[in-house]
Amino acid sequence: MSMYTSKIAGLGSYVPDHIVTNDDLSKIIETNDAWIQERTGIKERRHIQKGDGNSTAIMGVKASEIALERAGLVPNDIDLIVFATLSPDMYFPGCGVQVQEMMNMRTIPALDVRNQCSGFVYGLSVGDQFIKTGMYRNVLVIGSENHSGGLDMTTRGRSVSVIFGDGAGAAVLTRSDKDGKGILSTHLHSEGAHAKELALMGPSTEHWVPEIIAENPQENIPYYPYMNGQFVFKNAVVRFSEVINEGLVANGLSVEDIDMLIPHQANLRISQFVQKKFKLSDDKVYNNIQKYGNTTAASIPIALTEAWEQGKIKDGDTVVLAAFGSGFTWGSAIINW
Ligand code: UT7
Repeated sequence: MSMYTSKIAGLGSYVPDHIVTNDDLSKIIETNDAWIQERTGIKERRHIQKGDGNSTAIMGVKASEIALERAGLVPNDIDLIVFATLSPDMYFPGCGVQVQEMMNMRTIPALDVRNQCSGFVYGLSVGDQFIKTGMYRNVLVIGSENHSGGLDMTTRGRSVSVIFGDGAGAAVLTRSDKDGKGILSTHLHSEGAHAKELALMGPSTEHWVPEIIAENPQENIPYYPYMNGQFVFKNAVVRFSEVINEGLVANGLSVEDIDMLIPHQANLRISQFVQKKFKLSDDKVYNNIQKYGNTTAASIPIALTEAWEQGKIKDGDTVVLAAFGSGFTWGSAIINW
């Protein structure tokens, strides 16, 4: 039995100001508001604009500053940064060290997590383990994405490009000695057999830039994300359900104990499927994909921050986070708030 548990002491989120509606997209690519809303629930998303001063790391910093202030901490109180993203500012190094520099932190470790839509849950789990062992006291977990710069904004890419949006969320994890409070458990999985069903293949050592330029492919350009939508959808609904159940069973909880489920915002239809399966009322599931689209690693911390800001999460509530995405990777976290 660990001496410590970790609890979320502060949450913050940030999205760029620029709103892109479905109608805006339909002016650039062959799509329409009715299709996007019916298939995904999305009405609008945020996109970084050239010159607005944002990047993946910068949005992460903006979300982190709010989370730190709410936690009553200053940057130098943080012992570890865990940064989850699939859209880093640089190929390497990752965004974690940029946050460390931008926030004038000590020479603390910065760890980048590459688990796409499950990135925040993976990051939370990493932070939780370091706190439970007693190695660190305060861990900053960030999920941030700049998708808009890397999407295929032509009709060819429409099934992916209409879905994704930009934004960031952050959580400050703090050591707590109250047993039965805070993060009760996390549950992580992966299935690499399906790695290429939702992937961005290059630039990478398999698809290096000179090679891409030399080949100049007209079709199937590997530096745009590819998604086998229906296959991903079918796997998502199964894995979401499994991993939520796994978390409940591990803690001797039942579905009736869930006060708030924050599903990764992949598709409103996926969230609704899960809600129906677990027979949860509308007030027990928080969705905001309508406003932001799918922000991958940022979606859970943005949704969690909003739910908390709106007073939908109270002391003692059982909060369940669940994610599924590229890898495939999936995971859940069970929290006593
Ligand atoms: O966050 C990580 C995990 N991600 C997910 O879990 C996403 C899972 N998948 C999905 O959410 C859905 O599969 C999508 C939203 C991506 C796609 O919805 P779908 O109902 O599976 O549509 P589809 O890909 O089967 O396409 C149906 C039709 C096709 O036309 P035809 O072949 O029937 O004539 C597409 O070409 O819709 C067409 N289509 C579009 N039409 C208008 C695809 N994208 C668009 C579009 N606008 N943006």
